[in-house]
Amino acid sequence: MEQMTRRTFVIRGSIAAGATAGVLALGGGLLSPQPAGSGQVEFLEARCESNIKPTHKKVLIAYSSYCGSTGGVADALGQALCDRGALVEVRLVKNVNGLSSYDAVVIGSAVRSASWLPEAIEFVEKNQGHLTRIPVAYFLTCLALVKNSEGSRRLARSYFDPVLKAVPAVRPIDLGGFAGVLDYSKMNFMYRMIMQSKMKDKGVTEGDYRDWNGIRAWAEGLGPILRIS
Ligand SMILES: Cc1cc2nc3c(=O)[nH]c(=O)nc-3n(C[C@H](O)[C@H](O)[C@H](O)COP(=O)(O)O)c2cc1C
Repeated sequence: MEQMTRRTFVIRGSIAAGATAGVLALGGGLLSPQPAGSGQVEFLEARCESNIKPTHKKVLIAYSSYCGSTGGVADALGQALCDRGALVEVRLVKNVNGLSSYDAVVIGSAVRSASWLPEAIEFVEKNQGHLTRIPVAYFLTCLALVKNSEGSRRLARSYFDPVLKAVPAVRPIDLGGFAGVLDYSKMNFMYRMIMQSKMKDKGVTEGDYRDWNGIRAWAEGLGPILRIS
């Protein structure tokens, strides 16, 4: 296997005011969100193929999510990789049947209680044999990154620790962290109560904090290191 270099953790969504479209920093270093679309929880799955400069490399973006917004991030990553010539499939981890047809895999999850969701960690555990042989990158969405500070970035980086410790054999070539969405209408009663109290303390209001330019930029950087372009 070719030696893969580990790039440093890239934080998007916590970039300073005006640096990216969609999110602006408020006083206190908090990002200002777009309105969160309320309503039904949807889990995006997609497939795309570049007609412009096909590389014929097949990339899987597998994700897990509780309220659905991580699917939007996975889809945006997929679009960006598709624009670089890859054939991309975006799937929920529970809907992935084997990895043998993919040249590279990007795996992501929403954060709950300072960790990826259990099903995403289980996906890496279950597929570690294959994931040690192809380029792999990890990403997460969370609300810690709504705050633009070194401490928040460190905290968000630590959310990868459970999966990195659970499956040390899989060595991601890059780690991406993105601010996510706070939408109480998509949570069950218990989670809504917990999050309302926690977010009130932190001054984080309901809304969509995803930074599409930052998400896309991370994916564009992945192209060469996933060896798809
Ligand atoms: C029950 C619960 C626990 C959460 N725990 C954390 C946490 O520990 N740290 C954090 O930064 N964000 C936390 N979040 C915020 C989510 O990671 C964030 O809202 C994410 O965008 C949700 O993605 P999803 O819409 O794909 O589920 C939590 C959200 C919920 C509902």
